[in-house]
Amino acid sequence: MSLAEQALAGALSIADLRRIARRRLPRAVFEFIDGGAEDELTLAGNRRAFERRRIVRRVLIDVSEPSMRTSLLGAPAAAPFVIAPMGSCALAWPEADLAIARAACAAGIPYTLSTMSTTSIERMAKAVQGRLWFQLYVLREQASTDKLVERAAAAGYEALAVTVDLQAGGKRERDLRNGISLPPKMSARHVLDGMLHPSWALQMLRAGLPQFENVRGLLGDEGAGPTIAARVGQNLNPAWNWDDLARLRDRWPRKLLVKGVEHPDDARRMVSMGVDALWVSNHGGRQLDGAIASADALPRIADAVGGKAEILVDSGVRRGIDALKARALGAGAVAIGRAALFGAAAGGEAGARRAIEILTGELALAMKLSGTPDIDSVGRALLDGEPTQG
Ligand code: FNR
Repeated sequence: MSLAEQALAGALSIADLRRIARRRLPRAVFEFIDGGAEDELTLAGNRRAFERRRIVRRVLIDVSEPSMRTSLLGAPAAAPFVIAPMGSCALAWPEADLAIARAACAAGIPYTLSTMSTTSIERMAKAVQGRLWFQLYVLREQASTDKLVERAAAAGYEALAVTVDLQAGGKRERDLRNGISLPPKMSARHVLDGMLHPSWALQMLRAGLPQFENVRGLLGDEGAGPTIAARVGQNLNPAWNWDDLARLRDRWPRKLLVKGVEHPDDARRMVSMGVDALWVSNHGGRQLDGAIASADALPRIADAVGGKAEILVDSGVRRGIDALKARALGAGAVAIGRAALFGAAAGGEAGARRAIEILTGELALAMKLSGTPDIDSVGRALLDGEPTQG
């Protein structure tokens, strides 16, 4: 076993994978993944909202073989997880999108490819024979957005998740201080930092500088932001609204998800328009700092929707038990964001597999210890009424 393999095998938790990633990556790259907007209140609040929920265990139930198999968007999934879309992943590990997608496919859960991925829609569809969803950012040029939607349809993607919480790039101060951009603009500080992280630097030299493959030629460089979030934000259409969503619903023939929902009224309106699934998310605390935590928004949305659409949730999922709590609060599945990327940053595909294995292993254990033989039977009664304070 190589040293890297030993480190991965020894990682017991997502926090362990995060520590390995932190050691391996230059500071600017690690902080791009790890960081949130402004004071990172929402980033911290996401975690706290999961932690404050308490399970009221049931006992004397046969839990010898707990089943976490479920159905997502009408098709089977091996566990109530999907991979959240993450752009610029190749900064952490060459071809990280493919590495994470392969790990998801092996685990029998869907993978969502970001518009800002460094692997194109077509290359991903050719390389991975699993359940693939495409995440859409609405570009300023309508024709360019339409083209992305057509490409995802032609490549056979099962679902489209349109992200609606990036009307502008969040003010991520760690990124502004570190000057991280894509394609990377290397300053003397970045070169020095790279030299201090030789395994990462060698990989990058071999792989070449990553590019946004999906939107090559579509992003205006004029006035491009100094950070990835700013650059992406400047190229998106902040005027996109309900009429445009209705138009997208008409154009996209398969399952449509809206990612970044937090208000029950928005959720109700989306369901009435034929949206198939609501993705409760605050972008992992990377956009509006002060936004409600996802686990707090989730039960209100579940109540509003009343089973008329599927619900996914992300932001702050770091333990398998979070998926159990999310199911109890009304979500069909949780999306794994940074947890998967910390794994890939720690060890490519093997690291992403380890992340999924840790989360599913923890979920299976939490199911046994809480008296939950079947994930689909989980309801709100599993939780104590009010979240604990502090
Ligand atoms: C993201 N996220 C994101 N979301 C999206 O809709 N399109 C994107 O391109 C990206 N890119 C992206 C890059 C990186 C490095 C991160 C960490 C996140 C947000 C992502 O889909 C998800 O909502 C959050 O990551 C969930 O929060 P946690 O689980 O990471 O805390």
